[in-house]
Amino acid sequence: MGKTIGITGALYDYYAAHAYREPEVLKELREETARLGGESAMQIGPEQGAFMGLLVKLMGAKRMLEFGTFTGYSSLAMALAGATRITCADVSKEWTDIGRKYWQKAGVADRIDLHLDGGKAVIDRLLANGEAGTFDLAFIDADKTGYDTYYEGSLKLLRQGGLILIDPAFAR
Ligand SMILES: C[S@@+](CC[C@H](N)C(=O)[O-])C[C@H]1O[C@@H](n2cnc3c(N)ncnc32)[C@H](O)[C@@H]1O
Repeated sequence: MGKTIGITGALYDYYAAHAYREPEVLKELREETARLGGESAMQIGPEQGAFMGLLVKLMGAKRMLEFGTFTGYSSLAMALAGATRITCADVSKEWTDIGRKYWQKAGVADRIDLHLDGGKAVIDRLLANGEAGTFDLAFIDADKTGYDTYYEGSLKLLRQGGLILIDPAFAR
């Protein structure tokens, strides 16, 4: 017999209605991203943003790495939870420009350091700058072929006791 609870539609609806409150600015960003069509499926869900925000608060995480920013939902959720420096890696100006708009609207744009030359280049630059062991948390949510590189790079860049979040964490 299984020992975990599957998320049925009814359970998800109950959870969405009662387990967290999505800030208005995140809701607006989600609605604008939805207008992109099929690509919007890349965005994390609001319950995931709330959970990641909880982890940021519980850890007192301030310095974060993000591989895969898209329209900025996860980075904004983490900034609103208290992260003060989020180094983001992506390759799309078009998608991250949407994020910038909402980071500015939420008053957290100065906490987000966006790089558009991809995750590997960002890791190499941070290591060359002597930033190994200085980050609290890494979120890996980018091109799947890069996950080994982002994971190994995060191991070097995180402090002892730091946390790596991987989306998805299983093979489909
Ligand atoms: C699943 S989405 C990220 C979703 C985002 N975390 C959110 O909260 O909405 C994946 C992102 O990875 C980006 N990406 C693709 N290749 C990349 C690379 N080499 N380095 C970093 N990001 C990359 C894509 O442009 C896309 O924005």
